[in-house]
Amino acid sequence: IKSQPTIFIIFGGTGDLNQRKLAPALYNLFLEGWLPEQFSIIGTGRTPLSDEQFAEKLLDGINQFSRSGKVQQEKWDEFSKHIFYQVSDAKDASTYQEFGKRIENHNAEWNTKANVIYYLAVSPNFFPIIAENIKKSKLADDPEKSRIVIEKPFGHDLESSKELNKLLASIFDEHQIYRIDHYLGKETVQNIMAFRFANSILEPIWNRNYIEHVQISVTEQLGVGDRGDYYDGAGAMRDMIQNHLLQLLCLVAMESPVSFNADEVRDRKVDVLKAMRRFSPDDVRFSAVRGQYSKGWIEGKEVPGYREESKVNPDSNTETFAAVKFFVDNWRWHGVPFYVRTGKRMHQSSSIITIQFKDVPHMIFPTEASESWQQNRLIISIQPEMSIRLQVQAKRPGLDMVLNTVDMVFDYKGTYTNQAPEAYETLLLDTMLGDQTLFMRGDQVEAAWDLIMPILSTWEAKKSLSFPNYSADSWGPEVAEALIARDGFHWFSLP
Ligand code: BG6
Repeated sequence: IKSQPTIFIIFGGTGDLNQRKLAPALYNLFLEGWLPEQFSIIGTGRTPLSDEQFAEKLLDGINQFSRSGKVQQEKWDEFSKHIFYQVSDAKDASTYQEFGKRIENHNAEWNTKANVIYYLAVSPNFFPIIAENIKKSKLADDPEKSRIVIEKPFGHDLESSKELNKLLASIFDEHQIYRIDHYLGKETVQNIMAFRFANSILEPIWNRNYIEHVQISVTEQLGVGDRGDYYDGAGAMRDMIQNHLLQLLCLVAMESPVSFNADEVRDRKVDVLKAMRRFSPDDVRFSAVRGQYSKGWIEGKEVPGYREESKVNPDSNTETFAAVKFFVDNWRWHGVPFYVRTGKRMHQSSSIITIQFKDVPHMIFPTEASESWQQNRLIISIQPEMSIRLQVQAKRPGLDMVLNTVDMVFDYKGTYTNQAPEAYETLLLDTMLGDQTLFMRGDQVEAAWDLIMPILSTWEAKKSLSFPNYSADSWGPEVAEALIARDGFHWFSLP
């Protein structure tokens, strides 16, 4: 399938996201033949640049960050013919008239009416003004031809996310709005649906009768880097749990949709969010913990503590780590805890989902027989390892009866030779094709905010914290261990 003739207008064109993610993704889509013959990429931003200078900037990004490595000259020459730049002031009506002219020119040249995708890779305070100006300049009048892509963060809390939804709904139909959660574009994350709903053996055991608990762990070795100004006002709960981790949880917990249709899938995810148990302030104290990193050493390099990072308040109480115990109050998941954790400057960069099954009802082997007796676990490793492992007990070869835990592994590397596309390739292509399955619907975003608001407000009310409380290169604060140890479990990580 190829998409229709398409014009991308990228706000924040000179920014990091375009260089690191969007341009490399578009280039790879081009290389693999997914882009239509008639397409153009119009970057826009405040810095005055010529088309050539802008293209050079993207080339730099592609050479550094593309999964396909450095560009081949003749491919680049072909691709770069489609790149344009327009200096702009997002607040100024003439900017949008200029876009209008460019769109008309392309349409005349291509003798068609192209799809136009407005990609807002800018700070969220620009979302309203850009959306409003698009409307005023009648640039989104045809709902079948224009789409808007909104990067996170989608709101700062429930109220602001509702306001933003309301504003967007006054300009666009929901089917024109593409709210990005880039985790949903990851190959291994998409595979969770395939794994759950294309295999009949899992469904009978995928419930409270067989599953003891679920863990979702997304840890990063990176610190906050140069994003201190954004991050210090957000923190791990808003930055990661409200979106990525809750989406992973939805994929594990959702019922089977009737079909692989965008609204069917998103309806089933909203069901999960609605079924999740709400927190009272007491529950928050009991079920949610937070942390902040101090300085330490990562891979032989000394790294600063969070409060010493640039653009971070030196007395900041922003959490760089958060862990929460959730429940999904429905028949399938009654009584099954879902532990989620995420943090920066952790010992390992890895995103894994662990499903721990219940113990055997009766153990027939003597204790000495099991060297490392362990309940069955299914481990879905999203990154960096891309795999699904089922941990089972097996008899170790030998004359005596000794058991140990072994892994049955589906590993992408060993199974497929082709390289998996980057999340943004999938998401940009879906935007062009008009497929919203992997995008957040307005009600989903609000349901996720609604769930975490009591945690945020309880946390924000408490001003004195003993931060920092975990050192760089650790597994987070002790309270996170205690949260799960209290229930007799421990956080699981891959070696
Ligand atoms: C982003 C967060 O959404 O996801 C970042 O804002 C985080 O803070 C990033 O580092 C993690 O994404 P990935 O794809 O590297 O796991």
